[in-house]
Amino acid sequence: IIEGIHLESVKSFSLERIFEVSHHLSVLEFEIDEENTLLDSIAWPNTPSVPPPVSLNDTSNAARSNFVILPRPGGGSWLVGDQLEVIIKMFDFKGRPKTHGGDFLLTRLHNRTLEAGVAGQVVDHLNGTYSAVFLLPWEGKSQVEITLVHPSEAIPFLQRFAGEKPNGVDFYSTFHSGLLTQKTMCSVCLPPTQQPQCNYTDLNTGELWFCYKPQNLSCDARINHFSIYQKPLNSKEDILFKNNKDIPGPAGYYYKGLWSSLSGTTVKRFNSASAISQCLKNKVVHMYGDSTVRQWLEFLSRELSGNFPARTSHTFNLILHYVANELDGITGGKNTVVVIGVWAHFTTFPIKYYIRRIMSIRKAVVRLLARAPDTRVIIRTANLKHSPTPFLAQLGGDWPSLQRDKILRTMLKGIDVYFVDAWEMTVAHYLKHDIHPPRPIIKNMIDVVLSYICP
Ligand SMILES: *[C@@H]1O[C@H](CO)[C@@H](O)[C@H](O)[C@H]1NC(C)=O
Ligand SMILES: *[C@@H]1O[C@H](CO)[C@@H](O)[C@H](O)[C@H]1NC(C)=O
Ligand SMILES: *[C@@H]1O[C@H](CO)[C@@H](O)[C@H](O)[C@H]1NC(C)=O
Ligand SMILES: *[C@@H]1O[C@H](CO)[C@@H](O)[C@H](O)[C@H]1NC(C)=O
Ligand SMILES: *[C@@H]1O[C@H](CO)[C@@H](O)[C@H](O)[C@H]1NC(C)=O
Repeated sequence: IIEGIHLESVKSFSLERIFEVSHHLSVLEFEIDEENTLLDSIAWPNTPSVPPPVSLNDTSNAARSNFVILPRPGGGSWLVGDQLEVIIKMFDFKGRPKTHGGDFLLTRLHNRTLEAGVAGQVVDHLNGTYSAVFLLPWEGKSQVEITLVHPSEAIPFLQRFAGEKPNGVDFYSTFHSGLLTQKTMCSVCLPPTQQPQCNYTDLNTGELWFCYKPQNLSCDARINHFSIYQKPLNSKEDILFKNNKDIPGPAGYYYKGLWSSLSGTTVKRFNSASAISQCLKNKVVHMYGDSTVRQWLEFLSRELSGNFPARTSHTFNLILHYVANELDGITGGKNTVVVIGVWAHFTTFPIKYYIRRIMSIRKAVVRLLARAPDTRVIIRTANLKHSPTPFLAQLGGDWPSLQRDKILRTMLKGIDVYFVDAWEMTVAHYLKHDIHPPRPIIKNMIDVVLSYICP
């Protein structure tokens, strides 16, 4: 076992664009209780309040930090199936030990030559010390890698970013009628101004959406929806973090580049178009979600030489549908497969909107499984993404994804759905993190999906 620690990145950003918005969510009381429980469950350890600007000197520094591997309990050599425990001690830029928790650490045990990897589970002892526990699923020499994604001091900044204005992305619609065309800004919640607003709240799910009303056009004249990424902000502050409390053992691991599940499903390999076709024969597969689900569709389309669906940066609002409403339109049954992956576009919104959205999707999934219990519902979780610039980091680095991922898993617990653990499948893999994971990871994900459909 070789020791190694590296600092992945230090992110910088300023807070100048933040402003207060108030959220009027029309939710039922028990939903508010659930929301509060969920928010408690993702509460991050408090860092001593440091007024900005935070001095880099006081923040966790990976290069100064270290870890030790604890000896095997009971002595002897490590065996396949053992748990390896590592104690991580964090230090700041001046080499002083950290005395509080909250650093966002990612851990894995891996061997590049064997294309083997498994994610570790981190426990924050809240005193500058962390434990990481690894399952040893394969035989041979391996390496422990601990990555400081963000120091704890960064978390309050990230919380503010994800808690207020949807940051970094502005949404618009075009309105058109006769000779008039006008563009206005839209969002789940718009700051009140002189300009009246159009209310596009979905009557079935209650999902909120508003646009400023165009001056000389009616709200019905809305024809499309599009988004514009804002320019990068100035940089000033930096950091990162993460903790896990009651995370059950790893979901799986890679060996020779192939993902094996540890949650009871045997992952079969679907290495040819005919194997895939045979599994999908007579099946109707509905895929809903963001571009990370589209990747699966593209993979299958390519393997099966099918057609790609069209994509546009401007979307006609008539073809924008809520997942929950779509699910309500599905009959379901043993030949029906539903794949859902929604996370990437929610990292820039206040987390309440994500909870709200998953609540409506969950209600629709429960209705679907009640009318057709044989329907296979497969959920794709969030994955790690590379955030090469402060701009991308503040648009939603891995921390907001992690928070939403925990919420998703908690909310769907006990419901008969199948998870593809994209989070661990990207933590454990040797390829660089990417919001759109590279093909070898997608191939493994598709094997998991098809193994759920054709066990
Ligand atoms: C950080 O430490 C360096 C070296 O000790 C010192 O020169 C610098 O003033 C410190 N910066 C702050 C903001 O405290
Ligand atoms: C931090 O907490 C852990 C768990 O309670 C304990 O084992 C360890 O000794 C503590 N470390 C320090 C430096 O206080
Ligand atoms: C990976 O495993 C191979 C085969 O067991 C071994 O020769 C090699 O040293 C290992 N690499 C690392 C970095 O541990
Ligand atoms: C928007 O419309 C919904 C559904 O008709 C309604 O319940 C809600 O109160 C409206 N919100 C505002 C701010 O007008
Ligand atoms: C709307 O109509 C009024 C009155 O004709 C006109 O003064 C104004 O410029 C129009 N606004 C836009 C945005 O076209």
